[in-house]
Amino acid sequence: MSLQPVSAASAYSDSGSPSTRVVGGTKAEQGEFPFMVRLSMGCGGSLYAKDIVLTAAHCVDGSGDNTSITATAGVVDLESPDAVKVKSTKVLQAPGYDGNGKDWALIKLEKPIDLPTLKTADSDAFNKDEFTVAGWGADKEGGEQQQHLLKANVPFVDDATCKKAYSNLIEGEELCAGILDTGGVDTCQGDSGGPMFRKDDSDQWIQVGIVSWGEGCARPGKPGVYTEVSHFAADIAKAASEL
Ligand code: ARG
Repeated sequence: MSLQPVSAASAYSDSGSPSTRVVGGTKAEQGEFPFMVRLSMGCGGSLYAKDIVLTAAHCVDGSGDNTSITATAGVVDLESPDAVKVKSTKVLQAPGYDGNGKDWALIKLEKPIDLPTLKTADSDAFNKDEFTVAGWGADKEGGEQQQHLLKANVPFVDDATCKKAYSNLIEGEELCAGILDTGGVDTCQGDSGGPMFRKDDSDQWIQVGIVSWGEGCARPGKPGVYTEVSHFAADIAKAASEL
């Protein structure tokens, strides 16, 4: 498995057929997921607040002042002239992060971005059914980063089932999603840090996961593993208020 972000993308792969291209996804429409952020180290993220991006701990080097990250938002096409680009000022990596679990981090932006934020789940009530994932990461295992945001739907996989695929799964801190028997749809390298989300009871998008890891991408029997956002909701809120 890989918990390494990819290096910043300079070239993108050619567009292929929508059915084979996240893995097994299709192109997102402009404005469909306005909270999606691409980070310059080659990760995804979501707008937690107008000036705070929620991403994965394994996408950042540690905590402290950091002006080296650029967040790109407001566009599905990263090369669009309409892209909003804002630099980071600080990073907060999950306290106690050691490469296992606790895969979340916050990035403070130099100025607010005027786009809708993505609400985070604070209970496990939405850890079920089907989720949406989106990102500019590889469209297949070993594939290239994408210029255009891709999206896909992945079904929830319960902890007991996921534990059979991954004995190192941390059940309280991670949740799994994917098409277990056939594979074919998944997040992949470069999607890390991006959100996994679904609709809540009032039809609002709510974030339940953060792209974390998996063995390969979209392999049968090997679902994607996501940080269980609800488990960390209070820690994230506290960290955001102090950032
Ligand atoms: N660790 C990867 C990254 O840094 C994400 C991998 C997700 N893999 C998966 N099979 N869902 O981009």
